[in-house]
Amino acid sequence: MSSGVTEPAVAEFLATLEQSVREGTFTRLTLGKTRGDDPTLRNVQVRTVQLKAGPHLNFVWRHDTQDITKNLPPAEAVTEIGRLVGTTFHSAHLFTTRRLTQLEFNKKGQPRLSFGKGDGPAGGSPAPTHDRTKPRLLPAESQTWLHALGITNAAGVVREGMADKHRQIHKFVELLSHLVDGAPLTTDRPIEIADMGCGKGYLTFATHDYFEFVAQRSARVCGVEQRDPLVAQCNQLALETGRTKLSFVRGSIADATVPTPDILIALHACDTATDDAIARGIAAGSTLIVTAPCCQKEVRAQLTAAPVLAPALRHGIFQERHAEFATDALRALLLEWAGYETKVFEFISTEHTAKNLMIAATKRPGLDEAARARAATAIRELAAFYGVRAHALATHLDFALA
Ligand SMILES: C[S@@+](CC[C@H](N)C(=O)[O-])C[C@H]1O[C@@H](n2cnc3c(N)ncnc32)[C@H](O)[C@@H]1O
Repeated sequence: MSSGVTEPAVAEFLATLEQSVREGTFTRLTLGKTRGDDPTLRNVQVRTVQLKAGPHLNFVWRHDTQDITKNLPPAEAVTEIGRLVGTTFHSAHLFTTRRLTQLEFNKKGQPRLSFGKGDGPAGGSPAPTHDRTKPRLLPAESQTWLHALGITNAAGVVREGMADKHRQIHKFVELLSHLVDGAPLTTDRPIEIADMGCGKGYLTFATHDYFEFVAQRSARVCGVEQRDPLVAQCNQLALETGRTKLSFVRGSIADATVPTPDILIALHACDTATDDAIARGIAAGSTLIVTAPCCQKEVRAQLTAAPVLAPALRHGIFQERHAEFATDALRALLLEWAGYETKVFEFISTEHTAKNLMIAATKRPGLDEAARARAATAIRELAAFYGVRAHALATHLDFALA
């Protein structure tokens, strides 16, 4: 370093740093073994931070009695680190999602590189400190489509206006992982997964990557979407990124041709498209059905609740909430009647999206006739209470509400 010529080990370290920041696999960096004039200086810790001006690297200079913080744009930050290693600091640890790259200088000032375990997929893609998102279950490989679909920029930092979507994708994968862990899914062939009404494919790509890279379970994922351009775009991206077990088909949720799904996903499919999706899952005997209903128009028009509620239901918003409740409660009960164990919960805070209810159903191993009978009574009583005469899922299942 003293000669002014960058040693190969240092050059390789800086290239790895630059590449990890650019590709979004950078998680953190620490500079230690101080050699400068300041005896109070202990180390420097570097992380990614999202500022209004764009992504920066945040340097915290830790001294005995105080911390000094400085933010630098990525290119300047790499130059600054290049200036500090081998001079002020004789040790540097670079953590990416893939591995740890360690640069150490011996007493003669000669650099040496060694490698270790990175922060791994559990650390996920980088979490800018000013963005509270805590990515967990998406691997570094997901960076390609997150960038291509406009969620992150080339440096792997979440783009402005995309934080909620980013959070939703991660939350979805986290929930899916729990549901999958608790479901008796097949192990003797690839798991078939259908994502109904997949839109731009965010959740479809995320589901594929979770199974392929994180859970490492053999699975094929098929997205179904009625809009041609989205299907073409998603298939192109799957092809370009080498995702051979991921495909997209154009068609309707009710009758698109897809392999019989073990897991059926339908998030935010409009109105009764959710019922079409649930009905397909039930007919296919899917082990897991995961839905997040979108709008509930069908029931709202029928709502004639008990007289005691009538004055309150003059207000549109109460009517809307009752319609949502009645629609989704009937869906959950109909799934119970059809032989599923059902969970209903908010899958992401209402602060991020109003469409946050998830109905997740796992197929029971055998037929529990007593549970079916209880569910049938509950469905009819609830439908009668709200004056619901028609419900798309009941129609699909040939279940008489009255
Ligand atoms: C609100 S987007 C949700 C996309 C994705 N599931 C998500 O949550 O990010 C709903 C998508 O479902 C598609 N869709 C709605 N009804 C459908 C149907 N019956 N058949 C196929 N696609 C449908 C729409 O075209 C739209 O792209």
